[in-house]
Parts: sequence; C-alpha cells; structure tokens
Amino acid sequence: MTESLTVRDNRTGQEYDVPIADGAIKAADLGKIKAADDAPGLAVYDPGFVNTASCRSSVTYIDGDKGILEYRGYPIEQLAEGSTFLEVAYLLIHGSLPSKVEYEQWVHDITYHTFVHENVKGFMEGFRYDAHPMGMLMASVGALSTFYPEAGMIQDAENRQMQIVRMIAKMPTLGAWSFRHAQGKPFVYPDNDLSYTANFLSMLFKMSESKYEADERLVKALDTLFILHADHEQNCSTNAVRSVGSSQVDPYSAVAAGIGALYGPLHGGANEAVLRMLRRIGSKENIPAFIKGVKDGNERLMGFGHRVYKNYDPRAKIIKKACDDVFEVTGVNPLLEIALELEKIALEDEYFVKRKLYPNVDFYSGLIYEAFQFPPEMFTVLFAIGRTPGWLAQWLELTQDKEQKIARPKQLYMGDRGLDFTPREQRWA
Ligand code: CMC
Repeated sequence: MTESLTVRDNRTGQEYDVPIADGAIKAADLGKIKAADDAPGLAVYDPGFVNTASCRSSVTYIDGDKGILEYRGYPIEQLAEGSTFLEVAYLLIHGSLPSKVEYEQWVHDITYHTFVHENVKGFMEGFRYDAHPMGMLMASVGALSTFYPEAGMIQDAENRQMQIVRMIAKMPTLGAWSFRHAQGKPFVYPDNDLSYTANFLSMLFKMSESKYEADERLVKALDTLFILHADHEQNCSTNAVRSVGSSQVDPYSAVAAGIGALYGPLHGGANEAVLRMLRRIGSKENIPAFIKGVKDGNERLMGFGHRVYKNYDPRAKIIKKACDDVFEVTGVNPLLEIALELEKIALEDEYFVKRKLYPNVDFYSGLIYEAFQFPPEMFTVLFAIGRTPGWLAQWLELTQDKEQKIARPKQLYMGDRGLDFTPREQRWA
C-alpha cells in the first residue's frame, strides 16, 4: 500500500492526496494546491530549513534524539577508536572501507599531492600580516580553481577523483601556512615520510630541526578530532557546498563557499566563542551568575545546544575523553575545571533540560586545541580540514544525483508593488 497524506484546502473545500515516500512529501506536490486555477501554488515557508529535506543521501546518518552519528553506517565511536582520518575519508568518499591495496594507494595518492604550486605560496604571502587564517584558507582554496581549470569538468569521474585527492591532500598545507603567516614564520614544506596528521603538525610547528617529530599521543588525538568532524550531513557549510555546487561550478569554488559558512560563530566558530566565554567566567564561583544571565536571555551558553542533537552530542563524549590524553602530554588546561562545572550545573538546570540543550562538539574541542598552542583563530581551520572529506563526499553525491537541480528557494514577497518611479530632480525638489 502506498502511503499518502490527505490535505483539505479549507479555502476551496477541495481534497488532495499527497504521496508519502521515505517519511517525506514532495514540496512540489503541495504546489499543486491552489486557491484558484490562476493563483500561485501553496508554498512551504521554512527559514533555516528546519524541516525541509534538500536531498537523498547515503553518507551520514544522525539520530539527534538518541545521540547517534554514523558515517556510511559505521558508528562514530568505533571509527574514532579504531580507524584513521584518511581511512574515514576513503569511507566517506567511496562508500565502503578500503582493502589493504586500496588503502595504501589512497594514502600514497594523498601524500604525494600535499605540495602546492609555488605561486600559491606567493599569493598567501601577500595577505596582511594579521589576516585571519580562515579567511586565508577560504581564499586559497578558491584560488586552487585557477590552478586546476580542468576541475570544472565535473561530469568526468576520473577528474572528480583527482580534485578530491588534491583537495584533501592540500588542505593541511594551506591551513598550516595560514597559521605560519600570522606568526611571521617561514612556510614549512610537506614531509612525505610522515602520516597525514603528523605532517600537518610538522608544517605548523617545525623550526630549525631537520625533522619534526610530534608526540604520538598528540598525533592520535588530532587525527581523532579530524574523524569526529569529517561529516555531519546537511549542516550549514555542507548545505553551502551543495547549494553552490548545484550550479555545476568546480569543487574548489564550492568548498570555498563551505569554508565561508563554517567561518561563522554559530557554526564552526563556536569553539572559539566557548573559550572566550570560559575566560570571561574566570572561576567556578562566577558560574551561577553567568547561568542566570543565560536564562534571562542576556547570554548564550556557547558549546551547548544543537539543531539536530536533542541529546548529548556523541562527538562531545569522545572529545571529553581525548582531553585526558592530550592533557597528559601538555598539562591540564585550567579552563577545563570551569567547563566541567558549567556542564554539571547546566545539565541539572531546568532551563537547559526543558530545551534539551546538551554539550555539542565545540564545548571541549577548544580546550584541546588550546593545549596544542593553537590560537583561537585556528580552531575553525582545524574544523575545515576535518570536514573536507565530508564536503567532498556530499558534493560527489550531488553530482551523480539525477533528482538534484540548481538550488533556488522560493520567497514570500512582503514588499511594495507597482510603485511609479519619480526622477531624482522631482523627489529632491
Ligand atoms: N544557550 C542558551 N539558550 C539556548 C542555547 C544556548 N547555547 N541554544 C539554544 N537555546 C535556547 C533558545 O534561546 C531557544 O529558547 P526559547 O525556545 O525559549 O526561545 C531554544 O533553546 C531553541 O533554540 P534555537 O536557537 O531555536 O535552536 P537552533 O536549532 O536554531 O540553534 C544552535 C542551534 C546550535 C545555533 C544554538 O543552540 C546555539 O546558538 N548554540 C550555541 C552556539 C554553538 O555552540 N554552536 C555550535 C553548534 S555544533 C557545531 C556545528 O555543527 O557547527
């Protein structure tokens, strides 16, 4: 039996049968409902797309009520525990885990595309001395489209794969150089003997030593953070990648749009805001007054709440555990004590309980990044490096989805109509 919804339009008394498929109705079917033959069809008003599915996807599954996150069907907890970031990237892009041969080829390909054209270096050196690294990353990724004009041939499967490998490979190089620029330090070239994440740390922190060797526990922790950020279905930046990608532009331009979306404080910028908040609170004694400010609507508890999770964000749980490993190497971040107490108080407070506000991925990640000595402006860059395989997996899916069209939402027009234009001389007379 096909499932359907019966809608009665009380303006006309007419009834419509709207088919339900995969738990959704097609908005276009509602468009057939009209008050009169020549009237516009019924539209769906949904600012922020809170209840609008924009695509069918097989990349990432989230059950926000139960706090479940799976990439291609694999629970995030298992991937964080047993996989590597590059293996997870392969899984997201290709849809299944790699064989040994496939994995080795993938790691080899990514490793040997970490270098960028020397002109990219010159271009990045041209930024102001205090340029925000996220702005530099966004511009540099967009600029890659000019170095690989063939990237525009998005119908060509081999070409798509080439750009995907390039982008995952070059993102740490661009991210690290954005960081070094602000510090006035020379750019460090990739070291292809190192793993993806160890090489990133080398490009960030190497000085005069012939080889930079990061503590393995730190490499593992950062690799895990990349895994946790690798995809999150139709979030703001992924929606930006898909929306811009739907114009059939090259993937560098589409991902640059995603980086722009991630830059914002309500998305990737939240962990920076968490640290500022913790610093402002200053000590455990000040928490009750801060919570009161939040409840009175004067503040927002940054790192809490999520559009999808109405339960503890599963990524926050894993990051909270990773804090211990990192702090074992770097020493404890004193802000951790305030964060733990803040979480405890908020989780027992009726305001947060009633609204199902739990810690999200950003509540603890900033503390770890700070322990690595990253300045807050770099946090979002780290998020972007982790999210790149997800953006690309979603973009790849979009390019092969026959149902997709250029993104072009409707509006409900509220402005004036049919005004007569009066020339300036008369209006200003
Ligand atoms: N502190 C205090 N109140 C909050 C918070 C918060 N962090 N988040 C939501 N609320 C309240 C909100 O005021 C509203 O209350 P009321 O019903 O009385 O008006 C209710 O909870 C529902 O909130 P909303 O703003 O309608 O929820 P949303 O789905 O539009 O927003 C959010 C989701 C993540 C933007 C929001 O929770 C927020 O601003 N959180 C703080 C910023 C943050 O941590 N962002 C990182 C998100 S996770 C990383 C990522 O995916 O990018």
